[in-house]
Amino acid sequence: MSFPITRHRRLRRSAALRSMVRETQLTVNDFIYPLFVTVGNDVKEEIPSMPGVYHFSMDRLQEEIEKVVASGIQSILLFGVPATKDAVASSAYDHNGIVQEATRAIKSWAPQLVIVADTCLCQFTDHGHCGVVHHDDETGAAEVDNDSSLALLVKTAISQAEAGADIIAPSNMMDGFVSAIREGLDEAGFEMVPVMSYSVKYASAYYGPFREAAHSTPQFGDRKTYQMDPANVREALREAESDVLEGADMLMVKPALAYLDVLRMLKEHFDLPVVAYNVSAEYSMVKAAAANGWIDERAVVLETLTGMKRAGADIIITYHALDAARWLKGE
Ligand code: PBG
Ligand code: ZN
Repeated sequence: MSFPITRHRRLRRSAALRSMVRETQLTVNDFIYPLFVTVGNDVKEEIPSMPGVYHFSMDRLQEEIEKVVASGIQSILLFGVPATKDAVASSAYDHNGIVQEATRAIKSWAPQLVIVADTCLCQFTDHGHCGVVHHDDETGAAEVDNDSSLALLVKTAISQAEAGADIIAPSNMMDGFVSAIREGLDEAGFEMVPVMSYSVKYASAYYGPFREAAHSTPQFGDRKTYQMDPANVREALREAESDVLEGADMLMVKPALAYLDVLRMLKEHFDLPVVAYNVSAEYSMVKAAAANGWIDERAVVLETLTGMKRAGADIIITYHALDAARWLKGE
């Protein structure tokens, strides 16, 4: 018997053979593209730490939406930077709030585009936390209060659905947020609007550029009392399980790159679609290295996104979506 009998290279001999045995296909249908909408006129301002990502005012948004639609991307994730902030995030659930107005406008321009609304309070609170802050009467210690935050999140979700959001994506990590929002949506007549839960969201340093973009850095403390400890993986099962029981339609893992084991685990344990959020600093690192000529941006991005899909992502939220959509067309 001559060695070797097994030759793995047989199926790698040509591009055609490789494409026939390829296990993972990345397509434009996998992507959700995040967009930042801001107040003001004639604003298209690049976010310094995220080259190629912009703040748009309403009057400049349509040109970007047309680009997104032309690229074949089917879905966007909408973030708003409001004019005013207060302790109870009033601008988050204002009928004429920035996200609500942008949603209505985008629906009128591109009714087929799936709008995912990020449901959180941190862009809308003056303290920058994802919920209501309570101060202990005796010690004065500040705490993000779970249950009173839920009521505001429910109001926010309903107002987003009223404006035309197709998917509600709560990212606040309060306990019980999926059932509270599900119940609120159902009572308001939105029983067919799905909830994409940020089920497993870690207290991550990878959100830095986003917080700069969304002006949502907490003014004191951090988010470690509500977002997960990066060292934990079994806890992710508990987070996801409670969301499933509460009626979530999709489960998200965030960030993606340093948490692909978590993504794979959710894929194996649950039968709901799994979403990977390729977050802001993952994007910034690639852009910075590419700008220095240290990496081949196109190859690195497609490899990374393919890796997320291979790990178990059915859907990928990514700031690279517009570029990746072009590259997948061979442009
Ligand atoms: C708000 C929210 C954050 C992100 C998405 N929604 C930031 C945070 O939790 O501090 C991060 C997205 C990114 O970094 O790209 N809750
Ligand atoms: Zn938040």
